[in-house]
Amino acid sequence: MESGIEPGSLEVAMKTVIYYFTGTGNSLAAARKIGGALGDTDLVPIASLANTPGAITPAAERVGIVCPVYDCGVPVMVARFAERLDLSGAKYTFAVVTMGGMGVSALHQLDGILRERQGRGLDAAFAVSMPGNFPPLMRSVPAEKCGRTLGRADSRLGEIAEAIGSGRSVSPGFAPISGLVKALSYGSLAKAAHDAGKLFSVSDACTGCGTCARVCPAGNIEMVDGRPAWGRHCEICCACLHFCPTEAIQLNVMLGTEGRGRYRHPDLTVADMEAQRGE
Ligand SMILES: Cc1cc2nc3c(=O)[nH]c(=O)nc-3n(C[C@H](O)[C@H](O)[C@H](O)COP(=O)(O)O)c2cc1C
Repeated sequence: MESGIEPGSLEVAMKTVIYYFTGTGNSLAAARKIGGALGDTDLVPIASLANTPGAITPAAERVGIVCPVYDCGVPVMVARFAERLDLSGAKYTFAVVTMGGMGVSALHQLDGILRERQGRGLDAAFAVSMPGNFPPLMRSVPAEKCGRTLGRADSRLGEIAEAIGSGRSVSPGFAPISGLVKALSYGSLAKAAHDAGKLFSVSDACTGCGTCARVCPAGNIEMVDGRPAWGRHCEICCACLHFCPTEAIQLNVMLGTEGRGRYRHPDLTVADMEAQRGE
């Protein structure tokens, strides 16, 4: 799964900061791949900044955002983060969204937020197809069976890193269907997301191990009497669902999640998820 690019060998030498959010590791793997190819890159978890006050000023001239697509938009935490990003010192900005199938409109959303707040948008915007992680809509395929999808994503990320490294301007492109789906569904997702914890349930298969609480990037799960209790800061990233070692957690929307598979990127660890909160 290597693109053949030497770490740090890309053309324009510039310090880079990549802000990322991930629920099941695709976006972290993408951020790592791009950062590794660019060299001199800091990866900063967006979740670690969620409860900090004021503007966020990157200590780098090249600034990137990497995150998943949710209902053809970006996770609410990422939208809030983008509103606080101060790009006055940035020379080059980019975003990469990872998605199960469709979501270029998420890039238009990010670009719009930055234009509105900063008077400048993204210099380059990319979408990458990776395994989907929303079993209520589409069965999840276990990571070990996702080799081909992840291999294609890895090559695409190599090309993306090259484009970023050479300072290319890349428009997200016209995405009418993704835009339409976003217009129809993202508003209600954004409105209901924080309260989505009430849509999860836990069965007697729960051993009380607390992994769900450890991996939640929003710090939204507390163990109460040995069982997870969801608060009101859910991002619907589904990390709790996918990491539960006994598949005791279900998300009760659409087709539900019982017997519909679980996924997480093969490189993602519980420690990676805990590190996102930066505690
Ligand atoms: C709540 C939710 C909504 C999603 N909506 C979309 C979508 O609109 N389009 C899409 O292609 N994938 C969608 N997905 C799949 C993720 O975008 C995709 O699997 C992504 O790579 C996950 O990234 P992560 O592993 O970094 O969390 C959705 C996933 C979740 C959890």
